[in-house]
Amino acid sequence: MSLPVIDLSRSRTASGLDAVAAEIDAACRDVGFFYVVGHGVSTELQTRVEELAREFFAMAEPDKSDIAMRHGGRAWRGWFPLDGELTSGVPDNKEGLYFGEELSADDPRVRAGLPLHGANLFPRRPAGLRDAVLEYMAAVTAVGHRLLASISRALGLDDRWFERNLTASPTVLFRIFQYPPLVDASERWSVGEHTDYGLLTVLAQDTTGGLEVRSPDGWVAAPPIADAFVVNLGDMLERMTAGRYRSTPHRVRNVSARPRLSFPLFFDPAWDADVLPVPDASWDAERASGQARRWDGLNVHDWTGTYGDYLLAKVAKVFPALIGDVMPTS
Ligand code: OGA
Ligand code: NI
Repeated sequence: MSLPVIDLSRSRTASGLDAVAAEIDAACRDVGFFYVVGHGVSTELQTRVEELAREFFAMAEPDKSDIAMRHGGRAWRGWFPLDGELTSGVPDNKEGLYFGEELSADDPRVRAGLPLHGANLFPRRPAGLRDAVLEYMAAVTAVGHRLLASISRALGLDDRWFERNLTASPTVLFRIFQYPPLVDASERWSVGEHTDYGLLTVLAQDTTGGLEVRSPDGWVAAPPIADAFVVNLGDMLERMTAGRYRSTPHRVRNVSARPRLSFPLFFDPAWDADVLPVPDASWDAERASGQARRWDGLNVHDWTGTYGDYLLAKVAKVFPALIGDVMPTS
């Protein structure tokens, strides 16, 4: 089994839009993972981000520590070293950079002290990283909006339904990971099995490979395809579609001899959005009961709240040492 590849460049015509929506619908119901090509993000920009990231990770630890996450405070940004994050309860074998929407100190959300909102921590070197990351986040966020327009159509809603109700001001987190080769692959994951939290993850990866997806027929690889992003659905989309779409478990194992770079952008509901099922969502009883076997023991269909609540609870689990900086004190 291999994951579908969907060409977004067809969305310029009405019939193309319908075809894209139908393919996305099938992929979302089936495995919850697909590739997109024809997305309009330039290869030059992707290559620039990749080269600058490689340069950053190659620097000495004290230099990288200038932007360590502990300096990011509530905004929850910056660099974290190997073993710094526990996605599925054990330390991941990765180091990474955390970015988000660039907000100045006088933004009302920052003034109000909202966790995960604020300015990014950009390194002094390599000098171009700041501009490249901001440009990349803007370009891939636009892809997120386009994908959700197709998903709206696929669900029988008008194309702007998600934008009106959830993503006029999306929560966007962008991360750059470097996964060292696993020394003993039988013992450790680069990242253990998990699902993503929000709506869509749009991921670029270098040529190394190592991402694996849990399909109905077992684990399948999501190897790199030139100029394609890997897209997968998060917990909120599964909840909103009452199980029609799947927040699919995945994991990473870098068994190659070199470090692997990946670039996931998480395109998620607005922080204060109440995440409710879409109109006419038809409940998928089989999938809903399958929730009991979820990797984290949670049932996203039972949960209610704002996306910010959901995300903070997750952050508390994966970055236990940092949560004192991030959580509201009241
Ligand atoms: C994630 C994730 C996969 C990868 O960050 O949630 O699953 O290939 N990343 O880095
Ligand atoms: Ni993930």
